[in-house]
Amino acid sequence: MFTPVTLVIAFASIGLAAKLPSYIKPCKNDRKLNECALKEGRKIIPFLIPGDPHLRLPPLDPLLIDRVDLHPTGTGSIDLRLSCFNCHIHGLRQAKLIDISLDLRKKHISLRLKIPRLMVMGKYDVQGKVLVFPIVGRGDSNITLTDIDVTAALDYRLFKRKKEEYGQAIKHRVVFDASGFKIHLSNLFNGDKLLGENMNLILNDNWREVLDDLRPSISTTVGEIILKILNQIFDIVPYSQFFIQH
Ligand SMILES: *[C@@H]1O[C@H](CO)[C@@H](O)[C@H](O)[C@H]1NC(C)=O
Repeated sequence: MFTPVTLVIAFASIGLAAKLPSYIKPCKNDRKLNECALKEGRKIIPFLIPGDPHLRLPPLDPLLIDRVDLHPTGTGSIDLRLSCFNCHIHGLRQAKLIDISLDLRKKHISLRLKIPRLMVMGKYDVQGKVLVFPIVGRGDSNITLTDIDVTAALDYRLFKRKKEEYGQAIKHRVVFDASGFKIHLSNLFNGDKLLGENMNLILNDNWREVLDDLRPSISTTVGEIILKILNQIFDIVPYSQFFIQH
């Protein structure tokens, strides 16, 4: 049974109104809104990557996540309960915005991103089964995904704070695919080298199934990350500032 991921990420919230950072240009709310959002959105990514103290946005490459718990779907022959602690996600600087569309009336944003390669390094803890074998261990992990294609749909609401209106993303649905997946878990089975290396081979030989097992929780994690980044900006800049007033 799939349960949502737990994600602990150290983003500070502030609750003070601020101006839109100079690298974010407001768009006119007209027929060309999506075109403008795509053009401006593409320009914004490189500015967000190092982090922005003004928005209390931490560095995004590597992005540090204190903890992610991936719960398995448990429907196939692979069933992994995998946690990553002190996870460093490398590669977001190469993210390319492919498409974005805004529906201000329905308060809906959808976007598509492509990321050539994401390398997730951290401490792991795993239990479960792989084919007919039990898996257990804790140590250092490296999970690398290549050619990632992410489609995210977000719903937001508006709320008032000190006479200003702010946006807040409240829901996300994410689907993604990757054309490659490599995993290395060191110190499996209490450091038994032979069993551990064999298990790493099995995981990599069956990477499609491993990815399918973890996909719902990875999707949720990606959705949470996008939502947190967006809300970090939404939380400090009043909604009206994102659009050129007529
Ligand atoms: C992580 O794994 C990828 C894919 O196997 C590899 O290219 C990369 O060098 C590894 N990173 C580290 C720091 O070991």
